[in-house]
Amino acid sequence: MYDTVTDTERNINANISTDKDTEISKYKPKEHGTGVSKDKAAGTAVAGEVKMRKGLLITFVFTLIITVPVAIGASRLGWAFDKILGTKTTIPITLLSVFTILFIAFSMMRPVSALWFRICMWVTGLHACVLAYFIPSMTSASIVLIIFGQTWNGVIKPVVMFIIAIGSVITVIYGFIHARFFHVKRYKKNTGKLEKNYRIVQLTDTHVGSIIGPHYIGRMVKKVNELNADMIVITGDIFNHGGVYECRDIGKVTAEFAKLKARDGVFAVKGNHDPDTDEPGMAKFISGTGMTFIDNDTYENEHVTLVGRTGLVTDRTLRRDMGSLMQGVKYDRPVIVLDHDPRGADDAQEFDCDVIFSGHTHRGQFFPMTALSKRHNKKEYFYGRVEFGKTTSICSSGAGSFQLPIRVGTNSEIVCMDIR
Ligand SMILES: [Fe+2]
Repeated sequence: MYDTVTDTERNINANISTDKDTEISKYKPKEHGTGVSKDKAAGTAVAGEVKMRKGLLITFVFTLIITVPVAIGASRLGWAFDKILGTKTTIPITLLSVFTILFIAFSMMRPVSALWFRICMWVTGLHACVLAYFIPSMTSASIVLIIFGQTWNGVIKPVVMFIIAIGSVITVIYGFIHARFFHVKRYKKNTGKLEKNYRIVQLTDTHVGSIIGPHYIGRMVKKVNELNADMIVITGDIFNHGGVYECRDIGKVTAEFAKLKARDGVFAVKGNHDPDTDEPGMAKFISGTGMTFIDNDTYENEHVTLVGRTGLVTDRTLRRDMGSLMQGVKYDRPVIVLDHDPRGADDAQEFDCDVIFSGHTHRGQFFPMTALSKRHNKKEYFYGRVEFGKTTSICSSGAGSFQLPIRVGTNSEIVCMDIR
């Protein structure tokens, strides 16, 4: 490992392989930031904003229209629960349904960097979090009472409801604060191919958007730079699904990412929420940060070989066949795969790659989603270090948070791996 970290000219000297370009021209790496003129990019961006504002208005009106019947339906459902469980869940269930609808609607309104939109996201998101803990807890308490042949009575019910409500609020406050602290997860791997440690720092799933902004990214970058990485790799979902238009200040976010320092550069692959790399806003972000995207391509320096994969989660037709991707790859140095989806570990194992870095699952982000996500993704593709034969799979819980701004039972994580 190198003691001195310098700000490298990341893209300029990137040794992107070209021998396979004629074989699969569809996957030829794009010249980020150079294929679109500034005027054209600005014009397209403005048109995109206008189009999105129209979509915003339509979504807002649609949301108002459907919220009323949803509220009525939810109140009837709550009434039915009251009859069955002997509780008074009408109001909480109605609130949960309305806030869920509003939250989903706001989440779908991709663009928005406006203050009012961010406030709506925060208010509906945190309400949804509190109610998501409150409703199941009350229901569970009711079921326990029924199991033991008891019923709610006038004295104990308000007390239990108060305790559960306070517990839900405290849990969300804890989850909100906890999500703002970065935890460094350290790993080591001896491949027998290097004389000295080579330090790779992995970032994934930052989900920059209406909730994660420049201040958050600035703190993350500072923490990363303290690790003195030889190389920084980013395994997708840099942006939330609103792309660069959802950021409250894309210029500042770009400037913060540009401060990432590693001796051999910053390399990235797309996640399922990132815009295409030739989308004007994204191209401007890439050229502004100096990071190199290696989707469906390989890169090598004197220490490691990187293999960039994409598309397993979103569009499998865009995913380059691993066999063609690995042609000519040098195995005399550690072979490192970057793949947003941890299920890529199967291919990495088949081709005897040394390490695969991935993310995507967020480790479920907050309880009880942690348990549901683990079941959905399967244990070996869920979180942490898993050995697939000779291949070490590192699946990170991610450095940011998706939509709901809390983490309970998981950490906002930066991965630091020493390979030799
Ligand atoms: Fe993600």
